[in-house]
Amino acid sequence: MPSIQVELGDNSYSIVVNQGILGETGELLRSRTNSKKVIVIADAFVSTRYGHEVMEGLSNAGFDSHITEVPSGEEHKSLEWFGRLHDQLVSHRMDRTSTLIALGGGVIGDLAGFVAATYMRGISYVQIPTTLQAQVDASVGGKTGINHPKGKNLIGAFYQPELVLIDVATLKTLPSRDVRAGFIEVIKHGVIMDVPLFNQIEENLDAILNLDAEILINVIAKSCADKAEVVANDEKENRLRMTLNYGHTFGHALEVVTDYNVFRHGEAVAIGMNCAAQLSCNIDMLPLADMKRQKKLIKRAGLPTKLPPEVRPDMLLDAMYLDKKAKGGKLHLVLPTRIGEVEIRDDIDDSDVLYAISQCIGDA
Ligand code: NAD
Ligand code: GLY
Repeated sequence: MPSIQVELGDNSYSIVVNQGILGETGELLRSRTNSKKVIVIADAFVSTRYGHEVMEGLSNAGFDSHITEVPSGEEHKSLEWFGRLHDQLVSHRMDRTSTLIALGGGVIGDLAGFVAATYMRGISYVQIPTTLQAQVDASVGGKTGINHPKGKNLIGAFYQPELVLIDVATLKTLPSRDVRAGFIEVIKHGVIMDVPLFNQIEENLDAILNLDAEILINVIAKSCADKAEVVANDEKENRLRMTLNYGHTFGHALEVVTDYNVFRHGEAVAIGMNCAAQLSCNIDMLPLADMKRQKKLIKRAGLPTKLPPEVRPDMLLDAMYLDKKAKGGKLHLVLPTRIGEVEIRDDIDDSDVLYAISQCIGDA
């Protein structure tokens, strides 16, 4: 089965991508650990639908395993649930040799990963991401954490998993809107660093969105390999890893000014990528043809490219400056120079950013 290696010295690990492999979780884990005890921390919906397959596989491989559920939703990526899960680990007598499995979307991956990072100063953990967003982004690269009432992801740690197990069959129960929103991260990898991937998406978009397993496995594996390469070269986001934030500075700001209740994260990133490309085009960094090519693909994927009419450019710019990706009072913008290449710029005039935003406001 396709397997990608994240090369991080002693903290290296594999990402396994296939369909129908949840039942093999125990076997795959057995070959990597001497743990006897395993705790699965699962999104409540995902637990109901897929928990038994994972638990059966663990039991068949001889693990003493427990499953504990967290209700679905970003609001549970909290200090309160972080504490409750630690209580669970203590009550199940997990020790330093135990393994934790995160089963669900990015919320569970971030929350459970941070529990693994902190319980007894760190126990091993496995990511089993079940949303496309988490399969191509959140589960890879070891960013774990929870939200603080004053801001998202303010508390956390870089802590790499032992294994990432991606079963594309789980995407069949994911609402189409979430599949599309998650897919923007794959398009993003194409734009920032991978022309062959971008071409492949253009050629196979319908099959991908119809969840054709063969093409999906291939595209997800390539996307993860791209992210793995970036993480291997800049785990702690000193510079190169910032390129993964393409579209996110505009996108996060849009989520903030719309109170996180209008757009899926991936939809906001799609609009953000269009804003960044427009800006790059305006300052003659990006050929117009490449901007149009990106926009066409985003639209074909059923994702938005325009900021809603009620957004004011100055409001969005203010929110961009408040984002934690702004450093030392400067915006660090990831701007494409062509499909497959980006630059990080911290010298763009506010007036250029405001003008690009104003051009991207509209109805379509
Ligand atoms: P999510 O975890 O909230 O999942 C979205 C919804 O999908 C939930 O209601 C869940 O119950 C449901 N779901 C999950 N799998 C399903 C399936 N197979 N079928 C049907 N429904 C399913 O959201 P998400 O988009 O996966 O992740 C968002 C989170 O990821 C945010 O908290 C974000 O901060 C984080 N994130 C982390 C990183 C990172 O590098 N660590 C990167 C990007 C995003
Ligand atoms: N989602 C961006 C990163 O993992 O760095």
